[in-house]
Amino acid sequence: MLSKHVSFKIGGPADYLVEIPAKEALKEFFRQIQTDKVFVLGGGTNILFDSGGFRGAVIKLTGCFEEFSFDGETLTCGSAALLPLLVSESAKRNLSGLEFCAGIPGTVGGALFGNAGTPQGNISDALQSCEVFNAVSGEFEILNQAEIEFEYRRSSIKGIICGAVFSLKSGRENDILNLISAALDRRKHSQPSGVLSAGCIFKNPPHLSAGKLIDECGLKGRKIGGAQISQKHANFIINCGNAQSADVLELIEIARAEAEKQFGVKLETEIRIIK
Ligand code: EPU
Repeated sequence: MLSKHVSFKIGGPADYLVEIPAKEALKEFFRQIQTDKVFVLGGGTNILFDSGGFRGAVIKLTGCFEEFSFDGETLTCGSAALLPLLVSESAKRNLSGLEFCAGIPGTVGGALFGNAGTPQGNISDALQSCEVFNAVSGEFEILNQAEIEFEYRRSSIKGIICGAVFSLKSGRENDILNLISAALDRRKHSQPSGVLSAGCIFKNPPHLSAGKLIDECGLKGRKIGGAQISQKHANFIINCGNAQSADVLELIEIARAEAEKQFGVKLETEIRIIK
């Protein structure tokens, strides 16, 4: 069941769920695969799967793709490396550049795909290069930062993100730890924790906060089936335990319709809705 693999804990069965532990195995998988419907799952922290499941193959990179190493101020990692681990391992070495990511769950691959970040920075800021697998040519390619277009919560990366190199800077231990705890405090103060969610549902419209807009629409606490708009932060939808994807989608449509009706703002989802 896909629900086991995502933070929302929503999602029916996939036809195939395949763990791929190494680059050669990834190549081989695409040489043999019969379906052209393939979804690459990262940490699953920004995903809404359909409760009916996924008619295709879901792949999860593991093994070598989870590894990382430091060489001076350079961090080289696989795309399945967990962001919170990289933040803490960089801090242990007094390396600065990823502190703003503290509290962002998920993997490097997912973070790069959606240019994850906060108002304090985006994952693309420290990126030097990224390795992707082109499933059509069957080749791995290195993309330098300058070759990729990054915008707020969007990157132009095509292909399967396999790894990345980040340029960090030596910093002072206290400064790094202070930035990390400030990022964690901000989240603790404003966002729900210990609940089933997929993080912020909508992107912030330019110069506005989606959470504030939905809040001002009076939608905090609105419940459909097993899903509820968070009482703490209106840009979060909580799975109260038995939510179906349709419940979440209905809340998304309600929030969209109200934001447009009351403020004339069109909200765009940040989470990926996979059918
Ligand atoms: N606000 C409300 N009501 C709410 C929610 C927010 O009035 O229900 C107000 C807050 O009081 C504040 C403003 O809206 O004045 C902005 O809220 P917040 O500081 O919580 O920031 P945000 O824009 O909602 C963004 C990112 C978060 C990230 C925080 C870090 C987006 C869509 N959201 O949230 O990212 O953690 O900044 O401060 O860019 C995510 O990407 O999944 C995510 C959660």
